[in-house]
Amino acid sequence: MAIEKLKKTAVAGSGAMGHGIAELLAIAGYEVTMIDISDEFLTKAMEKIKWSLDKFVEKKRIRREDADATLARIHITTSYEQAGKDIDFAIEAVPENMDLKKKVFSTLDSSAPPHAILASNTSTLSITEMGKATKRPDRVAGMHFFNPPHSMALVEVIKGEGTSQGTINTLVELSKKLGKTPIVVRKDVRGFIVNRVLGTVFNEAFWAYQRHEATMQGIDASVKYTGGFPMGWFELADFVGLDIAYDVGKILYEAYGERFKPCSEIIYPLIKERKFGQKTGVGFYDWTKGRPRIPFNLLDEYDVDRSWAVAVNEASWLISDDAADPQDIDTGMKLGTYWPSGPCEYADRVGLDMMLKKLKDLYAKYNMEMYKPCPLLEDYVNKGHLGKKTGRGFY
Ligand SMILES: NC(=O)c1ccc[n+]([C@@H]2O[C@H](COP(=O)([O-])OP(=O)(O)OC[C@H]3O[C@@H](n4cnc5c(N)ncnc54)[C@H](O)[C@@H]3O)[C@@H](O)[C@H]2O)c1
Repeated sequence: MAIEKLKKTAVAGSGAMGHGIAELLAIAGYEVTMIDISDEFLTKAMEKIKWSLDKFVEKKRIRREDADATLARIHITTSYEQAGKDIDFAIEAVPENMDLKKKVFSTLDSSAPPHAILASNTSTLSITEMGKATKRPDRVAGMHFFNPPHSMALVEVIKGEGTSQGTINTLVELSKKLGKTPIVVRKDVRGFIVNRVLGTVFNEAFWAYQRHEATMQGIDASVKYTGGFPMGWFELADFVGLDIAYDVGKILYEAYGERFKPCSEIIYPLIKERKFGQKTGVGFYDWTKGRPRIPFNLLDEYDVDRSWAVAVNEASWLISDDAADPQDIDTGMKLGTYWPSGPCEYADRVGLDMMLKKLKDLYAKYNMEMYKPCPLLEDYVNKGHLGKKTGRGFY
């Protein structure tokens, strides 16, 4: 479907992500119907959207009349039949549960016209499987927004096994119309790009802590003050939610095996006590008095190139799986997690041989699959594609 034909939309699930996506669609001029299981949730979602639009008016980012017109473009219902009947596009943001998602897809499939594209905002689940719950797998794709959707610039557009290139092209265009930067995940790989690279970096840090090689604060101080990342890995895990980080970690382990062996000893005791991080007040850190203070004097405790090395290795796996391009991986990490640089750019700058050496040393020392160099990285180094210094690396 050409992007110009896309006019009427629906969003299933009006929670944290759904209401934000509905607001984005309405701001961009689309008619949106939000669907949820109760009027109460929908009313709350409308209040949040109104509050957010009022803030935009206050900050003079939009005019009052545009905010009112935006709000008027958003409709609510608990009926899929009503919401779906003449839409061109729907996205679901219901809870992360495959059976529920499949049910939502099958319902949307029966109520929406045949030409409509159906997307999922899932962070981890299989797009292919959701497509199979419909009679239009070619028009089912992933469209993974980041939280909060109105301020995070990134969207991962994910191709399921049955997704047509035309559908991907339309969703790339739609993301741009919503003011976002899309990156394309060409294969339905678990963790897509951002969560997969972040997952390995978390694991490396958790294992280093578990092995008493550095303290939690020392790792976070090094990552922040020496590495230039906006947050340390423990702080970021707390911020994301340890329950979510734990679930994503499990999915990555199931998908990729020992390379993503989770450090359960570190995270599971906190999960058991429902210490999920910022949202519950306590996780690795105590958040009850605000953001944790990461001591500056510990900035040398952890070698941040270890984080980079495993990130570069995972980027290499993504490229060798033909799931993503270096450019999209770098854009994803910079816009999705505010990394100061993408892993491929970083490797090109310091030398792919340096990254490979770091991985080999760590692999020799710890014998963990996480450090085992991806054959593609070894191949690049063997060919002399070392990065800037030889004129060719990932780029
Ligand atoms: N929260 C995040 O940081 C984040 C970021 C990116 C992606 N995601 C993904 O977005 C999706 C939604 O996450 P969320 O955090 O917005 O969840 P949420 O719990 O805040 O909202 C889910 C909403 O779906 C509604 N719902 C439940 N069953 C429904 C049904 N059958 N039909 C319509 N609505 C139904 C719930 O009532 C609720 O309002 C998940 O797949 C999640 O993995 C979340």
